[in-house]
Amino acid sequence: MLSVWLVLVSCMDFLLYSSAEEGLEFPSFDGKDRVLNVNERNYKKALKKYDMMCLLFHEPLPSDKELQQQFHMREMVLELAAQVLEDKDIGFGLLDSHKDAKVAKKLGLEEEGSIYVFKDERVIEFDGELSADTLVEFLLDLLEDPVELISNPMEQRAFERMDEDIRLIGYFKGENSEHYKAFQVTAEKFQPYVKFFATFDKGVAKQLTLKMNEIDFYEPFMDEPVTIPDKPNTEEEIVDFVNQHRRPTLRKLRAEDMFETWEDDMDGIHIVAFAEEEDPDGYEFLEILKEVARDNTKNPDLSIVWIDPDEFPLLTTYWEKTFKVDLFRPQIGVVNVTDADSVWLNMPNDEALPSAEELEDWIEDVLSGKVNTEDDDDDDDDDDDDDIDDDSSDEDHYGDDDDDDD
Ligand SMILES: *[C@@H]1O[C@H](CO)[C@@H](O)[C@H](O)[C@H]1NC(C)=O
Repeated sequence: MLSVWLVLVSCMDFLLYSSAEEGLEFPSFDGKDRVLNVNERNYKKALKKYDMMCLLFHEPLPSDKELQQQFHMREMVLELAAQVLEDKDIGFGLLDSHKDAKVAKKLGLEEEGSIYVFKDERVIEFDGELSADTLVEFLLDLLEDPVELISNPMEQRAFERMDEDIRLIGYFKGENSEHYKAFQVTAEKFQPYVKFFATFDKGVAKQLTLKMNEIDFYEPFMDEPVTIPDKPNTEEEIVDFVNQHRRPTLRKLRAEDMFETWEDDMDGIHIVAFAEEEDPDGYEFLEILKEVARDNTKNPDLSIVWIDPDEFPLLTTYWEKTFKVDLFRPQIGVVNVTDADSVWLNMPNDEALPSAEELEDWIEDVLSGKVNTEDDDDDDDDDDDDDIDDDSSDEDHYGDDDDDDD
C-alpha cells in the first residue's frame, strides 16, 4: 500500500504543474488492478488470451515489512506498465516460485526475481532494470517487426549511425525470398537484443557493399562489418554466427539488459570504463577506448563494459562508494564480480588522458593477470563481511576514503 502512495506522491508534483497546460502528463496509477495472480488453474488461459504475456517470477511474499514494501514496489512497476500499455494486448502477471513451482517448471522459468515475456512460442527473459520506463520500452520493442527495412539513403545513414547496437543487415530480392524468410525467423529469436535490418533496394545494398543474399554483421563501435560466410545462409548458420560473435570487444551497459551483460563476465572479472559521453574528457576517453577496441577486435578474451554514469543516476553514488572512484572523471578498472573488489588505472587529475598505446599496455597487463584485484588483498582481515575499510589508500584508488561502514 505504501508503495502506491509513493507512486501517487511522486506524481502529485506533475499534477500540480500540469494543471494549467496540456500535453505533458505522466501517468499515475489509477488504482485498477490489472496484474493477474497466475497459478496452475489460470495460466494456460492467460497465455492464450494475449499476444504477449509478461510474468514476474517472484519469491514468496515475505513477512518482513520492509521486504513487503520492496515487493509492492516491483508489483507497482508492472501495474503501471500494464496501465500504460492497456490497449496493446499484453497480459501481466505474478507467479509465486514456491506456491506455483509446478507451473514455473512447465514454463521453464528458473531465475527468481526475473521477468519473463511469452511471445508466440518464445520465452524472452527481461534482464534489465526494473523500472516502468525500461520495461515499457522493452515490451514496445518486442511488439515491433523483428526485421526493419532500409529502403532509402536517409534510412541507410540512420542505420550506419547506430554504432552502440549489435546489428545485422541483409540484402534480399524481396519479401518472398526464402533467404529473407530464414533471416526473419532468426531475427525473432534475438529480438529485441540484436537488431536485424534488411534491404531490397539495389542502391542501398551497393552503398553498404552487400551482394544479393549477403548478410553483414556489425559489432558495436567497429567501422567495418564482418560478412557471414557462405551465402545464402540458413537460419542455423545465422544463429551460430550471432552466438559466436555476440560478445563485443566494447559494449555499452544499457538499462534494458544490464544484468545480462553483468552476468556475462570474463572468468569472474569485468574491465569497466566509466565515461560520460557528453563531457569533453569523457568523450575523448571514449574515442581512445574505441580505437583500442578496434585494434583488438580479434581478441576473444577482451570485452570492455562502457558505462555512461549519466544514464544511471541512481547507481552513481553506489558505484563511487563501492569502487572508490570519482565518476566526474573518466575511469577504467578491473572489477571482480564476486566481491566487487576493484583496481583502477592511475590517471592523475592534472595529466592528459592515457594514449591508446598506454591503455593497450594496461589492458594487456589485466589480461595476463599482472594487474588484478587480488594483489592488494594480502593485509585484509579475512572475514567475509564485505567491509569497505580495507587498504584503500592504494595509489590506484581514487575518491574520498571515508570509511562509512554501516
Ligand atoms: C574474485 O574474488 C573472489 C573472492 O574474494 C576470489 O576468490 C577470486 O579469486 C577473485 N577472482 C579473480 C579473477 O580475481
